[in-house]
Amino acid sequence: MNHFSRIGFILAAAGSAVGLGNIWKFPYITGEYGGGAFVLVYLLAIVFIGLSVFLAEAVIGQNAQADIATAFIKTSKSKNKNWKFSGFMIIAGLIILSFYSVVLGWILNYIITSFGDLPTTTEAAGQAFGDLISKNIAGQIVFHTVIAGTVIFIVLKGIKDGIEKINLILMPLLGLILIGLLIYALTLDSFSDALKYMFTPDFSKINGDALLAALGQAFFTLSLGVGTILTYSASLPKKVNFVKSSVMVAIVDTAIAIIAGLIIFSFLFEAGAKSTGGPGLVFISLPVIFSGWGVLGHIISVAFFIALVFAGITSAVSMIEPSLKFFTDRFSMSRAKATVICGAFFYVFGIIALLSMTGEFKPVLSAFGKNAFDWMDFITSSIMMPLAAIVTCVFLGYFVDKELLRRIFTAHVSETVFNIWYNLIKFLVPIAIIILFLNKLGII
Ligand code: TRP
Repeated sequence: MNHFSRIGFILAAAGSAVGLGNIWKFPYITGEYGGGAFVLVYLLAIVFIGLSVFLAEAVIGQNAQADIATAFIKTSKSKNKNWKFSGFMIIAGLIILSFYSVVLGWILNYIITSFGDLPTTTEAAGQAFGDLISKNIAGQIVFHTVIAGTVIFIVLKGIKDGIEKINLILMPLLGLILIGLLIYALTLDSFSDALKYMFTPDFSKINGDALLAALGQAFFTLSLGVGTILTYSASLPKKVNFVKSSVMVAIVDTAIAIIAGLIIFSFLFEAGAKSTGGPGLVFISLPVIFSGWGVLGHIISVAFFIALVFAGITSAVSMIEPSLKFFTDRFSMSRAKATVICGAFFYVFGIIALLSMTGEFKPVLSAFGKNAFDWMDFITSSIMMPLAAIVTCVFLGYFVDKELLRRIFTAHVSETVFNIWYNLIKFLVPIAIIILFLNKLGII
């Protein structure tokens, strides 16, 4: 049987969850929203909302042991075939993967440049990054091809020999590199400032935007809303305690985000840089800091960007898996054929995404003030993912037999825990997502 082992599932789901969202995005949005208070709000969003939706996807997947569309139909009270529309979720994963692969390509570029001269000023670093994304078409295509090829190679081998195995190797290595970087950060005087920054809440910085950013980040970092967790859980043997496994994944994901934050803020403060780095934090601020540390700086730079690639590859494979399972299980397609079709899709869309940021192609590949890369990001994270999460919660809360869910949950946890979860996904979570949704679309 092509199933995960218990530990294989935890590592693969954690591998999916831990990605660029943790190491690149979490530190910079924490910086933008002022540190400690944002971390606190983020933790609440993970525990009450992220984890609830995670459990929602996991319970559907594990119980049905099927692709998204079949799982919704099978789990519903009515067994209504129309639930197959839930299969729309797979598209978001492929679109995210298109631009995620391009960003992973930039990171490959940074691993290579870390061996040579690092930029010594912020201007030079900004220029280097700008040149890479706006001028270097050939280089970006090569890097994107390497990443896409790696992802395709891994998923072709299936759940057990492909996805489980790569996570079994890369996740411990990622852990080791991060521990090494954390130990180095601990030796810096600025470590205590980083700690203070991340754990002293200043509530004056918390506004509606910060709450929404925390909620959006909680979804993205736990890989929710594209059927990834549902699909992985469909390969989790039924006897495994999915609640315990899900909590473990959320803990690992959160711990890694916090460790990445402590490392990056220690580095930043040590160099006297401000905490608010924005999206260029990793690609512009860090290389300048590393360049000031001589040989050690180069070693740390290589290690840091390798950690990012490892974290990203295990996430990337999780974005394509829902589509593969959908095609192989619902249409009895071979895994190879499904991989070729989905691989070609994200490869081509990735090329469109990267071309849309270059000087030459930007004008043709932009519409309504956004280039194709930004559109792919916007359509997935602001529309498709929140929509999928609402559909999942409303489905469980209103179209699935409550007794069935109670039976599944209480085999592993108490009645009280079940009731808390049930009310969260039935009421609080959909309302929170609708607010997020309307706000992101600029309606409220
Ligand atoms: N969670 C990953 C990160 O933090 C990204 C990711 C992987 C993802 N699979 C996903 C995001 C599915 C949304 C949906 O980088």
